Amino acid sequence: MSELNKIVLKIISNGKGILAADESNATMTKRLESVNVPSTPENRLLFRESILSSESMKECIGGVILYDETINQKTSFGKSIPDLISSSGALTGIKVDTGAKELANSSEEKITEGLDGLRERLKKYYKLGARFAKWRGVYSISEEYPSKLAIYSNAHALARYSALVQESRMVPIVEPEVLMDGDHSADTCYKKTSEVIKKCFDELILHKVDLSGIILKPNMILAGNRSKDKVSSKEVSQKTLQCLKNSVPNEVPGVSFLSGGQSEIEATENLNLINKNNKTKFIMTYSYGRALQQSALKIWSKNTKDIEATQNIFNHRVKMCTLAAQGKWSYELENQ
Ligand code: 13P
Repeated sequence: MSELNKIVLKIISNGKGILAADESNATMTKRLESVNVPSTPENRLLFRESILSSESMKECIGGVILYDETINQKTSFGKSIPDLISSSGALTGIKVDTGAKELANSSEEKITEGLDGLRERLKKYYKLGARFAKWRGVYSISEEYPSKLAIYSNAHALARYSALVQESRMVPIVEPEVLMDGDHSADTCYKKTSEVIKKCFDELILHKVDLSGIILKPNMILAGNRSKDKVSSKEVSQKTLQCLKNSVPNEVPGVSFLSGGQSEIEATENLNLINKNNKTKFIMTYSYGRALQQSALKIWSKNTKDIEATQNIFNHRVKMCTLAAQGKWSYELENQ
């Protein structure tokens, strides 16, 4: 087993999942302002430190993705954040893209940037304790989008990033996110997501990326958030499994889904059914941001000193997701 494959399995085996706590300062500011907390470095650290010290981290979380500010911060006890994460047995990850910018010649679409100087930044992050990285390509969806240009250019960037991350002895999370914004059907999402994922793998293979040493982080197959279609969780799970079976090469060890704007319960229920019906050999787990932190952030904002209340909510959500990653979740467990 390669070193990279071992890292992958340590992060996502046995129902463990990933906490995506890598919101950029701009995104975290939006999240904090939505609950009326000023977005200062101290407040961003306080919330993250509270959830990272939760008891469920040990049993449920295999990896935490951080933003540059956080990987350099120290907790109020003087420990570095990567040390806090490793004290629970999880690995530290780092978001290394520098954001999605307007794509030249297709101004309504985005290209993710951050390749310049990446090799040097990866060296620095490895020294700080990171063992995996994340890069998110983002695709809008409609009849006309994503265009071939957006599909190709983002796949190319994801592959160049992945090759550099593996060269630095870290595992790349490959995240091509087809957004849920729009009135498209689930079948359109299926078609476009398949095209996007297949192109990513064409490029990963061209760039000689070791597929046994990556984690794919895709969206689930959903109808658009303004669609009139009602798609059941059962259909979501079937379409998502079919899409991945047809577009992901067998060497890939596993998939960790993003929540992408689903509610906490939706993201849990869909993951549960995906695992119940999973006949592929891929591990299917979570790499959620909002679907793990939303309720915890709300409670925390009411009294930022009440760490216990924040941790109780976070522990519950994480445990539910870890059950879902094993196909063992049910509604009844939500209220126990
Ligand atoms: P969400 O689960 O909130 O979509 O965030 C996951 C993520 O890492 C997006 O890049």
